[in-house]
Amino acid sequence: MAITTCVFDAYGTLFDIAAAARIAADEDSESDLAHNWPKLAEIWRAKQLQYSWLRAVAGVHTDFWEVTRNGLDFALEALGLQDNPALRDRLLHLYWELQAYPEVSQMLQDLQAGKVKTAILSNGSPDMLDGAVRSAGIGNSLDAILSVEKVGVFKPHKSVYELVEKQFFCLKEEVLFVSSNCWDVAAAAGFGFQTAWVNRAGDPMERLPWVPKHIMKDLSGIAVLASGT
Ligand code: LAC
Repeated sequence: MAITTCVFDAYGTLFDIAAAARIAADEDSESDLAHNWPKLAEIWRAKQLQYSWLRAVAGVHTDFWEVTRNGLDFALEALGLQDNPALRDRLLHLYWELQAYPEVSQMLQDLQAGKVKTAILSNGSPDMLDGAVRSAGIGNSLDAILSVEKVGVFKPHKSVYELVEKQFFCLKEEVLFVSSNCWDVAAAAGFGFQTAWVNRAGDPMERLPWVPKHIMKDLSGIAVLASGT
């Protein structure tokens, strides 16, 4: 079925989340972070996601900003960096000013030129998403910014994916859902969306009951995929 709506995960898909640790490390080449910023970024992200899943399963929701801070605190302590409040503040501040990957702006414009609706569907709270969209300068190319805060539970709860149908009055099969998180696209495929996994890192496929329909190494082919040509 033709794609009418293209929906994107935010963090790690449109926005380069590793940039926060990378920029903070670049700012002070003498800092402890200079050598192990990739490790910090990896643990921070892993814990942020684990806490989101655990809270969803346990039915104890909080917003994504809190699990982002909790994940960072775990990562800083794991690397012995917990006694550096200025570094913590800087990393958290950078999370509100994330840049989009280089191909994002053109891709969104191409989708809109092809009359495909565009949206973000993210765990992020509305204010976090507004900050990132503003700093990346892509607000004019998005028809909607949908946050899980509307339903009070994190992905991959199915009520999150239902937000798309409610927003656009569309069929699931008309939606192309795009994420760099294989677990997110897998769950979206199980929900009934068409899916594309953006596998920048060349990661193995998650062992889950569903698989993404398309796999791409970045977002540059999304508009052509959505146009069906
Ligand atoms: C999001 C996280 C899962 O933006 O990347 O929803």
